[in-house]
Amino acid sequence: MRKYLVIGNPIGHSLSPQIHNHWMKKYRLVDSIYEKRKVEEKDLKKIIEEIRKEEIIGVNVTVPFKKLIIPFLDELDFVAKETQSVNTLFKINNKIVGYNTDSAGFLASIKELYPYSKDSKIPRPLEGKHIFILGAGGVTSSIISALKNEGAKIILSNRTKEKANELQKLFPKLEVLDWGKRPLVCNIVINTTSVGLNNDEEIRIDFSDYDKNFHKSTLFYDLIYNPKETIFLKKARLRGNKTMNGKMMFLNQAKYAFNIWTNILPEIDDEVTKLLD
Ligand code: ATR
Repeated sequence: MRKYLVIGNPIGHSLSPQIHNHWMKKYRLVDSIYEKRKVEEKDLKKIIEEIRKEEIIGVNVTVPFKKLIIPFLDELDFVAKETQSVNTLFKINNKIVGYNTDSAGFLASIKELYPYSKDSKIPRPLEGKHIFILGAGGVTSSIISALKNEGAKIILSNRTKEKANELQKLFPKLEVLDWGKRPLVCNIVINTTSVGLNNDEEIRIDFSDYDKNFHKSTLFYDLIYNPKETIFLKKARLRGNKTMNGKMMFLNQAKYAFNIWTNILPEIDDEVTKLLD
């Protein structure tokens, strides 16, 4: 058996096993199985040993271990190093390598709405766009890393300003705003905070005037996909803004992790998309 795992804490609600097992069946990897395991920080060393012994072939790492796993690894890929965040583990040439596929997963999802066009006068669809990021948690560095080479202006705000300032050290071009303030112009607003995971929570920043003029076309993107529509997205939809939840980012990060492990780039088909509905 070739065993794969997603580790985290909590892990009960993870949908990664359904997604990867669907692809394993679809691409006839008959001896492969993907499971979830709730772990504590003290278990991380043992997980790495299991990969070394090939008792486990590949691992997805989720909250709260994406940074904590780093000291146990032999190598990091470029994005994992830049973001200090790892979501995929695999052994190559006897080295346990940490990858970050969240960043590429996010970029793939946003490019569905801002596609490259050969005819366009603007070569990069996000060029010159003003992107306002809310939050400075574990996943935020992956979002900045994805956007930073696209020619966009990135403005970030976090309730605890010190954490925003820490991110500014990793990404010097990042502009930081006090929590509660908004940039003058905003083409895209991205929620990377955990606010909204519980249905009744709401981000206390007022965008109610975004129902007219230029800002009517602003995209509100929430990385949360469960619930499907947070209050942040619902209010945006009712104002007439564009909205997107974290489903396609989640599916795309899984796709790139699967590719690292198997060399197969799996299709995000209807069946796998429905698993998240
Ligand atoms: P994770 O690593 O799971 O992303 P985290 O690092 O604690 O968790 O990040 C959670 C993010 O949501 C942080 O940006 C956090 O803001 P703080 O840095 O100020 O804690 C943000 N967040 C959580 N609850 C919030 C709230 N009620 N209002 C505003 N931001 C909140």
